[in-house]
Order: sequence, then C-alpha cells, then structure tokens
Amino acid sequence: MRITVLGAAAGGGFPQWNCNCRNCRGVREGSVRAKPRTQSSIFVRPDDGADGVLFNASPDILQQIRANPALQPARRVRDTAIAGVVLMDGQVDHTTGLYMLRERGSPLPLWCTDPVAEDLTQGNPILRVLDHFCGVERQRIALDGTAFEVPGVPGLSFRALPLQSKAAPYSPHRDAPVAGDNIGITVTDRARGTTLFYAPGLGAIEPAVFDAMHRADAVMVDGTFWTDDEMIALGLSRKTARDIGHLPQSGAGGMIEWMARLPARTRRLLIHINNTNPILDEDSAERAALAAERIEVCEDGMEITL
Ligand code: MLT
Ligand code: MN
Ligand code: ZN
Repeated sequence: MRITVLGAAAGGGFPQWNCNCRNCRGVREGSVRAKPRTQSSIFVRPDDGADGVLFNASPDILQQIRANPALQPARRVRDTAIAGVVLMDGQVDHTTGLYMLRERGSPLPLWCTDPVAEDLTQGNPILRVLDHFCGVERQRIALDGTAFEVPGVPGLSFRALPLQSKAAPYSPHRDAPVAGDNIGITVTDRARGTTLFYAPGLGAIEPAVFDAMHRADAVMVDGTFWTDDEMIALGLSRKTARDIGHLPQSGAGGMIEWMARLPARTRRLLIHINNTNPILDEDSAERAALAAERIEVCEDGMEITL
C-alpha cells in the first residue's frame, strides 16, 4: 500500500492563524527551522491502483488535493481518486473538509461509527447539510473488529478499534465518552501481508491498542503534545494533553516509552502535531530525542510504502 500524509498538524494547523507561540512566530519569521503543516489527514491506496481512501476530511482538503496531484487523476471531466472517506472521530479538524467535497456528482461514500454519525447529524449536522448537495452514503464502522472494504479500492481491508480519546467539544459525549467516539484503524494490504495502525487521536494505550501497534509494520499515531502540561505552561489552556484525549510523547507512560516496546522493525511515526510542540523545530533537543528512538515526525507530502 502507498500512504500519503496530506496533513500532519493538529487542529489549527501550523502556523495557527492567531498564534504567536515560539514555533508559529518562528516559522513565519524564518527564525525556527520547521515546515508548515496542514491539518491531519492521510490518503491510502493500493500499490497498483489510482483510487484510495481518505482518512479524515481536514478543513485544508482543497489545498491538500492541489498539493498532491495523485488525488486528481483527471480521467474524466469530473474526477477524484477519493473512493471513500473514513472518519476516526467527529472532531472539527477531521470532518469540516466534508463540506468541500459537496460538488460530487454522486453521494459520498463515508464510513464512521454510530456515535460519530450521531454527532454529525445533531451537534454538528454536516451530514444533514450535505444532503442538500451530493448527499452521503454512510456505512457503519463496527467496533467488534469486523473487517470492511471500500469499493473501488481492491486489496485493502480495514479494521477499527475503539480508543480512549475525546469526542469533539460540541458532542454530548465530550465528558461522558462512549465506545466509538474515537477509533484507530488497522489497514491491511492483503497481497503484501503488511499493516498500518493509524490513530491520530489517542489518549491512552490500552492492551488491545498496544496489541494492534505491536502487530503493525508501521504505527502512525497521536503526536499532538510533547508534555502533558504543554498548553498550561504556555498559558493557552487550563487542560492537560490527557484531559483532551492526547497522550503526550515525553514523561512516564508517554508515547516514547510505549514505542520503545515495539519490535525493532516497526516504523514509528507521529502525526496530528500541535503547533506548540517543540518537535516541530528540527533543531530542538526534543526532535533529537525522537530521532535517537527512531521515531519520525510526519510532514505534509510524505509518502510511505508498506
Ligand atoms: C483535538 O484533536 O483535540 C481537537 O481537534 C481540537 C480542536 O477541535 O481543534
Ligand atoms: Mn484534532
Ligand atoms: Zn502556535
């Protein structure tokens, strides 16, 4: 399978429009060596196919499609390589791009869990609004590990795992989580026998999650924050990383410790990186600490073949 990172930043992107933290100011001024990033999304397609699956629909999707010509194969007057969209949650940074796909000539094939479908028809009724445009052909993602396929994307299969993270702030389950608010997905390339575990929002690593990470050839997981109190220390929030459903990289029980327990051959990638995270600075000690652990920091346009 071929994986394209369309966007590697968390909500707000990098630099964030209203932010003058060290990273955002530094990347604008050129005083910090870092690459701008759009909001998180990946595109996965089989080795020999043009059509693939879009994971999450970022508000930056139009820019992402322009930057990645493979998403517009131009086989007919109206065309797209996006055969279907799979949502990992109902968060604003992962769903508002659905509005930008409204010019489709047929209903958009969309896979999401029941709690996400409920959030997207009630608190943030994107799916109801889209019914006035192309419409959505919604498919249910099961939480019991049943594999599903996306028509038009032969050879790949998908399996969801409920995660501890957070529903979107507008959701009635924000503080009363239900299974399926957030999922991780294992993508399997059946011909090659390779797997990717993708979880851009991951608040805690339960045994089933670690098991899925351990089996995968590559893990591409939550890279939002370096420290649990990152936003508090900057005076930008009163909430810790864990409070809002993101496991930080550093510290006891952090992502670095978990990744160190993966098999040596596992490719380790961080995605959904918040603009405050020091790992965005390519000259930072934190970035060097990740490199020493062979942990990669995703950037827009990155291609991974598994
Ligand atoms: C998150 O990942 O915590 C959210 O996407 C934050 C947001 O809504 O911007
Ligand atoms: Mn987010
Ligand atoms: Zn910032």
